[in-house]
Amino acid sequence: MSGNKSINKLYIDKIKKLKKHNELYYSKDKPQLTDKEYDELKLSILELEKKYDYLTDPNSPSKSVGFKPSKIFKKQKHKVPMLSLSNIFDKEDLINFEKKIKNYLNLKSNEKFEYSVEPKIDGISASLTYKNGNLESGVSRGDGYEGELITENLKTINDIPKKVHFKNFPKNIEIRGEVYIKKGDFENLKHKFANPRNAASGSLRQKDSSETKKIPLKFIAYTFGLFENNNFINQSEFLKSLKEWGFKTSKHNSVISKVDDLIKNHESFEKKRYELEYDVDGLVYKINDLKLQTRLGFIGNAPRWAAAHKFSAASSFSKILNIEIQIGRTGALTPVAKVEPVNIGGVVVSNATLHNEDEINKKDIRIGDIVKIERAGDVIPHVVSVDLSKRTNNTLKYKFPNKCPSCGSKVEKEYNKLTKKYDAVKRCSSEGFSCEKIAIEKIKHFVSKDALNIDGLGKRVVEKFWEKNFIRYPQDIFNLDFKKIENLEGWGAQSVLNLKYSIDKCKNITLQKFIFSLGIRHIGQENAKLIARHLNKIENFIKIDKNYDFSSFENIDGIGEIQISSIKKFFLIKENLKVVKDLSKFLNIKTEVTNENGKFKNLNFMITGKLENMSRAEAKSIIEKNSGRIVSSVNKKLNFLLVGDKPTTKKVNQATEIGIKIITKNDLIKLLN
Ligand code: IVH
Repeated sequence: MSGNKSINKLYIDKIKKLKKHNELYYSKDKPQLTDKEYDELKLSILELEKKYDYLTDPNSPSKSVGFKPSKIFKKQKHKVPMLSLSNIFDKEDLINFEKKIKNYLNLKSNEKFEYSVEPKIDGISASLTYKNGNLESGVSRGDGYEGELITENLKTINDIPKKVHFKNFPKNIEIRGEVYIKKGDFENLKHKFANPRNAASGSLRQKDSSETKKIPLKFIAYTFGLFENNNFINQSEFLKSLKEWGFKTSKHNSVISKVDDLIKNHESFEKKRYELEYDVDGLVYKINDLKLQTRLGFIGNAPRWAAAHKFSAASSFSKILNIEIQIGRTGALTPVAKVEPVNIGGVVVSNATLHNEDEINKKDIRIGDIVKIERAGDVIPHVVSVDLSKRTNNTLKYKFPNKCPSCGSKVEKEYNKLTKKYDAVKRCSSEGFSCEKIAIEKIKHFVSKDALNIDGLGKRVVEKFWEKNFIRYPQDIFNLDFKKIENLEGWGAQSVLNLKYSIDKCKNITLQKFIFSLGIRHIGQENAKLIARHLNKIENFIKIDKNYDFSSFENIDGIGEIQISSIKKFFLIKENLKVVKDLSKFLNIKTEVTNENGKFKNLNFMITGKLENMSRAEAKSIIEKNSGRIVSSVNKKLNFLLVGDKPTTKKVNQATEIGIKIITKNDLIKLLN
């Protein structure tokens, strides 16, 4: 065998071996190699390729796509997303939450709902798939759309049934709940983790499930994901069945109707929260009626039909050592108190936000003061008040900067046309990427979980890459010099491989996520979705420039003057135009496929007037769910004008004139059935 041939054979054998072990690890969950052996095998392939550049194989780890990096669990898409809950802090929020539900369902204000009230356990959520009674797989929440396949680790938890024998147990169901550690058990793990939640998360993500088994993890079930042939009428009934099937449910679950009773229950439950055997950071309220839940659906990342009523925060006192300014992605200058480290409810806090200049003045907060700091769940700790009895002569008043500490541009307060007041927040007036701190924050946003979701490119890494001059704009991420990265401290071939893989993977993105990832002010996930639906494809988005006619945007339900002017402002800046154009070349930006073959395929609807027992938002959502489109002007392309009480006469007349079908809400429902 010639030298070349034997090298070729060695290379091919290694690739084959890697393929086999990938399968054992990822598909069969039965790895035969240790992490170290696996990494060495991969590295030896890469080294061969480096030496002999004629060696290429589509299955090589250097072609990263298709290869999942080691040490990371196999990813699995959730069939039904695992979303988050919006927060309620007081009675006013609760009244508002209920009001929004009634508006959406177009119900009278005196209508009553039943709520399933459940403790919000502060752990890690997991989704378990059961087929014919057998636990087939278990996945972590991940980013809500895709989690990690951690079946073996979840199987070590005694509370999780591996087989369910009941006749009435659904044939195909995903059961979801919280993995947690009892406070008592956490005592023995205190030296390793900051709080029970971290301990649960850390233990659950052990590569070796025998390590997980050593930790006494628990599981409480509270909801379902995919559920074929779901005949349950309400959530509380489902919770009852969960218990009968052998799942642990919370003994504190209850059903409550009136807002006042919810508040009373919250007050009394909060008093006993520390007596519970697990950490609870609030109560979850879910509309009990599952049909109503389906009607209500989701907004952004959270259901309309549920909310978390948080408990008041834990607090402690500490000394302000200094005040520093943080600059956010939208240029907001936020004063942050650097405080003597203090333990607040199990977490060591050394930074606490002071919100803005007005708050500092109003509370007369000075450097050197002893202040009360509060921390609630995952919300950033904040300074509540000064303990004036402890004030000394050595305290120092803080002068808020008039210039951006990062780029020196002047800072300004915006005028809010609606409230006719100046905003409390001061902002850096520079635009685009000319302010270093803003640019870094924009890039952090771009790679974050809800945007491109690039694993291995966290906030610290973005800062490091910036410092090393590797990145200045989001698009630079797709032109990284991996050789240079490999030589950075703490990096190596394996981590570079992982990063390459994550970057490749993120290139397939929906238009909605792409728009969101740009970090345009006032364009959050929900607005990005509305704009994406309106524009339909990336080609239409990249057409936007300073001369673009935004008049059609005025008809997007949910997009107002503030959002439009923010987008206009964004596209006035040349750098932003370049970012969008360059990114659109690197990325594969897809139109979101929302059930394209529904009953209303290719049909355009317009709504006018108040519909009976249905809000416009719900009608719109029903039409869109069935592939129909909502348009905002009457013309020949319109197929149906959906008319309710007190419609706009002009619209009805125009539609009649050009022969457009006029329908009522009941006609709409009939069309669907
Ligand atoms: S229901 C669509 N019920 O809270 C919402 N979540 O902020 C589905 N959680 O990721 C979640 N206790 O980790 C639900 N009784 C409960 C819960 C609960 C704790 C956690 C869960 C979820 C997070 C949402």
